[in-house]
This record gives sequence, C-alpha cells and structure tokens, in this order.
Amino acid sequence: MKDLPSYQNLLAQNKEWVAKRNHEDPTFFSRLSALQTPEFLWIGCSDSRVPATEIVGGLPGEIFVHRNISNMVIHTDMNMLSVLDYAVNILKVKHVIVCGHYGCGGLRAALSNLQYGIIDNWIRHIKDVYMIYRDKLDKIEDPEARENAFSEYNVIEQVRNLSQTSIIQNSWARNGGPWIHGWVYDVRDGYIKDLKTSMKDNKGMAPVYRLLDTEPPAN
Ligand code: CO
Repeated sequence: MKDLPSYQNLLAQNKEWVAKRNHEDPTFFSRLSALQTPEFLWIGCSDSRVPATEIVGGLPGEIFVHRNISNMVIHTDMNMLSVLDYAVNILKVKHVIVCGHYGCGGLRAALSNLQYGIIDNWIRHIKDVYMIYRDKLDKIEDPEARENAFSEYNVIEQVRNLSQTSIIQNSWARNGGPWIHGWVYDVRDGYIKDLKTSMKDNKGMAPVYRLLDTEPPAN
C-alpha cells in the first residue's frame, strides 16, 4: 500500500480494519448500527495525537466526542452546547470528561503575541483563562512546567464552565448526574492524569452562577 497516495491509504486501511473487526466479532457492526448508548461524553482537543476513543483503549460506540482547539467550553458555542445537550438529555451519558493535554499548540499560541488569523478570536478565550491563573503561572520559572500547569488550569476552568451551563445544572437537579471530570493526557508517554476535579452538583459553585431548576413553560 506504500505507493498509494496517502488519502487512498486511509481507505485501504479502513478495509483492513473492517476485516479485522468482523473477524474478532462478527456481530460488531450489526449491534452498533442498531443502537448508540455511550456512557461518556468526551470534550477534548482537536490535536491529532489525542484521539479520544483510542487512547483509553475504547471501541466505536463507547464515547460521544466533541473536539475543538484546546478543549474549550465556551458558553456561546452552539456546536459544543448542541453536543452537550444531546449527550446529556438524549443519550443520558453518565460522565462528561474534559480532557486537555500537555504540549497543546493552542495554549502555546495563547501565551504568545503572534497573530494567526481568524483563530485569534478562539485563542482569546484561552488568554482569558491565563489571566485567571496569571499569578500562579507567572511564579513558575521553568517554561515547560509553566505550560504543563497551564494545561491543567485550563481543564479545571473548562470543567467549571461546563458546570455553569443550564444543561448540566438542570440535569444535576433532575437526574443527579452526570459526573463531570477533568483529565490531562501526556503526549510524551500516553498516560492520562486525573485532576480530581470531579463535580456532581452545584454546591461549590459561586452563587451567581447557580441556576434555579425551572421547568420550561408548557404551551
Ligand atoms: Co491541543
């Protein structure tokens, strides 16, 4: 397959993958095509080195995935909100995982003063996260350690952003879930670090972000 153009290689690899899957489990595709019941929503970075299902040894059907540059949860992002609403209210996932990663290009760009074009408007949100943790981050002298800490603080901030959405708060009030978690993946060794920031209610939240559970008016 080496002399095929690279995109045709992908199609050839797909055929091999199907054959292998069918060999291991002949009912795999018929089962999956009938039903999608993932237990997890993954909000991760678009970085090609952090493929959600693969790095946790999962299979198709196990994780509902949303990815964007630097795994951001922006409360006006209709794409993210639509995925979140569908995952929480229709698929009824039990866990929402925000997974960042060390060595994230988006975070690096946010710390620089360079312009990259349209994406600068997205990166602006990451700069805002830096400003929240600026005092702590600026005290870290080693550039790599500072960048690693920024990856972790950004995940913590995105877990917080998630918790403040009406989608999550209403689901907590009505269903007692989902759990939301913050993880960071290390592209250098493949291990995921659990930041132990799991949340299942809005008790620790700043009061101004707490939303009362009000059912939408019937009409
Ligand atoms: Co990244």
